[in-house]
Amino acid sequence: MKVTPFDAPLGAEITGINLADDFTAETVDELNAYWAEYLVLCIRDQNLAPLDFLKASRIFGDPFEQLYGQFNHPEYPDIGLLTHQDGDTVGNGKRKIRGTSWHTDASYFERPPAGTMLLALEIPKGGGDTDFMSTRAAYEALPDRTKQQISQLEAIHVYESSRSPRKLIKRSQDQVEKFGEQTKHPIVRTHPANGCKSIFLNPIRVESVVGLTHDESNKILDDLHDHLFQPDFHYRHKWNVGDFLIWDNRSILHQANDDYDWHNQRRRLYRIMVKGERPF
Ligand SMILES: [Fe+2]
Repeated sequence: MKVTPFDAPLGAEITGINLADDFTAETVDELNAYWAEYLVLCIRDQNLAPLDFLKASRIFGDPFEQLYGQFNHPEYPDIGLLTHQDGDTVGNGKRKIRGTSWHTDASYFERPPAGTMLLALEIPKGGGDTDFMSTRAAYEALPDRTKQQISQLEAIHVYESSRSPRKLIKRSQDQVEKFGEQTKHPIVRTHPANGCKSIFLNPIRVESVVGLTHDESNKILDDLHDHLFQPDFHYRHKWNVGDFLIWDNRSILHQANDDYDWHNQRRRLYRIMVKGERPF
């Protein structure tokens, strides 16, 4: 196994392993330690059937239920499908590429998914990159007085924040009842593997800061977002077919880009999320 950190504030490339193989407990621990350290791992050249992908995902945890049945793999519902066809799901020609603004996955759950992994099956010739942001690096760059100011704060996470920059997929009543509406989480989150802290906010789902007035809450959220959105903390991933990529939802924000020719170019990825702890 060869591990090469990206020339970026996060992430590492791994080559020389085949995730369809069986791994020793030592190798599983090693991969998890790299994940906790680099937050995004891209394991190259993985030609995995769905069952191999499911097996490989268990290196990092147990599957977290996919939220939208309509995008699930027909035979393996723990696998979600991200495709160019998301662009026109109702046949009216309107683009609906999912995930095109900064977010972390499913943070309105009491126990949000610890990580999300994608397997690249088909990639367009140009565009369709995925952006990542290290909220750990962003936390570490905060002035001490801001770290102090936010150290005990909690945020309310809802399905769709009134502050969200984009409209989210409407959920069915069943989905609302099954997955719930809102919860609260600490704004400074600790990684269980190494104790590192990060800013745990979600621009599409955080509604407010607990115990503050509307204006005070918006001011803190706006200031923290301005801090997060600095390019110093960002990495843009250009996909290759066979990339198996996992990110840490505790300490990473991500966004898709819909800048590819989705009428003529194919883009297909499998997605699996893994269960996580209650944020602390
Ligand atoms: Fe996402």
